[in-house]
Amino acid sequence: MELLEPVDDELLMAQVSPIMSPLVWDLAHIGWFEELWLVRRDGEQSLEGFDDLYDAFRHERAERSSLPILQPAEARAYLEAVRRKALRVLEDEPRDAYVYRLVVQHELQHQETMLQTLQLSGVPYPGPPQLRPARETEDVLVPAGPFTLGTDDRLWAYDNERPAHVVDLPAFRLERFPVTNERFMEFIEDGGYRERRYWSEDGWSWLQAERVEAPLYWERGPEGWLRWRFGQLEPLPPAEPVQHISFFEAEAVAAWAGKRLPTEAEWEKAAQGVERGDVWEWTSSTFEGYPGFEAFPYPEYSEVFFGDEHRVLRGGSWATDPLVARVTFRNWDLPQRRQIFSGVRLASDA
Ligand SMILES: [Fe+2]
Repeated sequence: MELLEPVDDELLMAQVSPIMSPLVWDLAHIGWFEELWLVRRDGEQSLEGFDDLYDAFRHERAERSSLPILQPAEARAYLEAVRRKALRVLEDEPRDAYVYRLVVQHELQHQETMLQTLQLSGVPYPGPPQLRPARETEDVLVPAGPFTLGTDDRLWAYDNERPAHVVDLPAFRLERFPVTNERFMEFIEDGGYRERRYWSEDGWSWLQAERVEAPLYWERGPEGWLRWRFGQLEPLPPAEPVQHISFFEAEAVAAWAGKRLPTEAEWEKAAQGVERGDVWEWTSSTFEGYPGFEAFPYPEYSEVFFGDEHRVLRGGSWATDPLVARVTFRNWDLPQRRQIFSGVRLASDA
């Protein structure tokens, strides 16, 4: 895999963080997933023990480096062998069209996860792309009225994006760009992390426990803010969208600006008219099934995450492949997570 070519074996095997898998686990897991969906026939088993090692629901990320997982060279060989078999199967007995896209999309999503791990490692990694600058804080008025949330697509969409259903929203305003680093610096200089009134109860508890004073990877330098990006310490680019903020920080910066987070329905309704930005955008919505939701192809993809624990992020980051970053795509994570390439766009009532 091209993404991991510049990465040495030691880093591939490392447990960089308890919330991330070792990179070599992701690598073999991508192969295991492809084998499961494209190569195996009904009921057929994987190689000895692979279902236990590489099914993401069997073991926590934090314990994966202590399992007898494949070494880097073995993982690469496994991936190649699966790919060869998959190509042969595809010629002989094509599978349902959805399955190919599921496998492609899964690999693309893991590439973004692996970039999060690489960034967390602090090890220099070549050539992360620049983010597009965001501009000033003008907003657009989205008129009241019904629109169709979600999709009935069965080729690319995941189960949690279905079914399409009409939602009637009051008018609201949404900024055309995500919040920039510059604006976030103003929030900090203005005492944003010290003012209780900007924070929700959960957010304030998190802040007290974690003693956070800036987005993840920010560092105060003698002449202003710096940030670590893929092993390089560099001046913080003021016009880029802020990245690596938690849901709680997103809520707080919105409160400081006298605004609020959009709901995911608002986000999706407005998405045609605003600049997409290069960051995932936290919404105020908890992750729930749409009315009429049916788990597909298995409840572990989304259904087990439904509830008020996770918040929805929308859009897509600079590390998200365009095949994934469709307007109906729903990402979700715990509100304290900051390893994601996550930012925020502000909304307000009309
Ligand atoms: Fe996966």
